[in-house]
Amino acid sequence: MKPRIEVRGAGIRFGALQVFRGIDLEVGEREVVAIVGPSGCGKTTLLRCINGLIPLTEGEITIEGEPLAAPREGVAMVFQHFGLFPWKTVFQNVAYGLRLAGASRAEIADKAQKFIDVVGLTGFENYYPYQISGGMQQRCGLARALSVAPRVLLMDEPFGAVDAQTREILQFELLSIWETRPTSMVFVTHAIDEAVLMGDRVLVLKGSPSAVHEVVDVQLPRPRNRATLLHPRFAELREHVWQTLMADARKAEFKVTQ
Ligand SMILES: Nc1ncnc2c1ncn2[C@@H]1O[C@H](COP(=O)(O)OP(=O)(O)O)[C@@H](O)[C@H]1O
Ligand SMILES: [Mg+2]
Repeated sequence: MKPRIEVRGAGIRFGALQVFRGIDLEVGEREVVAIVGPSGCGKTTLLRCINGLIPLTEGEITIEGEPLAAPREGVAMVFQHFGLFPWKTVFQNVAYGLRLAGASRAEIADKAQKFIDVVGLTGFENYYPYQISGGMQQRCGLARALSVAPRVLLMDEPFGAVDAQTREILQFELLSIWETRPTSMVFVTHAIDEAVLMGDRVLVLKGSPSAVHEVVDVQLPRPRNRATLLHPRFAELREHVWQTLMADARKAEFKVTQ
């Protein structure tokens, strides 16, 4: 079976800045590929490319076998900074995604409520983003993305802006939601533990311009949950990716030359 997302030899240049090059990536129908790399290595840019918002300078992206030229129906993205409209309520923010997808009024009423319930925001439908916590805002962004039943879910450091405890709660909730509705997911993060926890594979980006330095086959059993964190393989992989990334980060910080 063809992968749902295929990225071949992807490169992006902004003027004189070559952000990344030669990136290959395949995501199956029920697969999660995590991408980890230092800040500025082009993770958000790559997701925006897969979302059809930025054309590649080199290479090709196909979704469900079709070359990507513009944003496509069935692809949803969750942003690091929530991406909610401050003047819309929780309900209206979730409904917005459905409206864009062309859902009828009845469908919007039904599905928006259903996914507000799935992410645990029942009772907060009429609150505005400023009235709820960062974690709840991220739940709202997640509900908006899930409500359109995306076949491709693009997550850009979705838990990067919430506190550590909330982040853990949301990670496990997302895993359990994904179990009931498995779909192709690209999960971008700068947190190594999160990449290993979420991904079937972890792509480690590094270098300048950045490129795929390593593809780690995670092979931790699913469903994943808090017990996964205690799995010896989890610790081993986290350490492995840490060594790969942090050796460079330290060198950069202290300008050590070898
Ligand atoms: N539209 C743009 N125009 C010019 N440079 C950009 C643009 N978007 C991102 N960049 C640059 O590309 C690099 C990668 O950015 P980004 O994808 O946001 O990295 P990451 O998400 O990994 O932190 C950064 O150096 C950033 O300044
Ligand atoms: Mg980013």
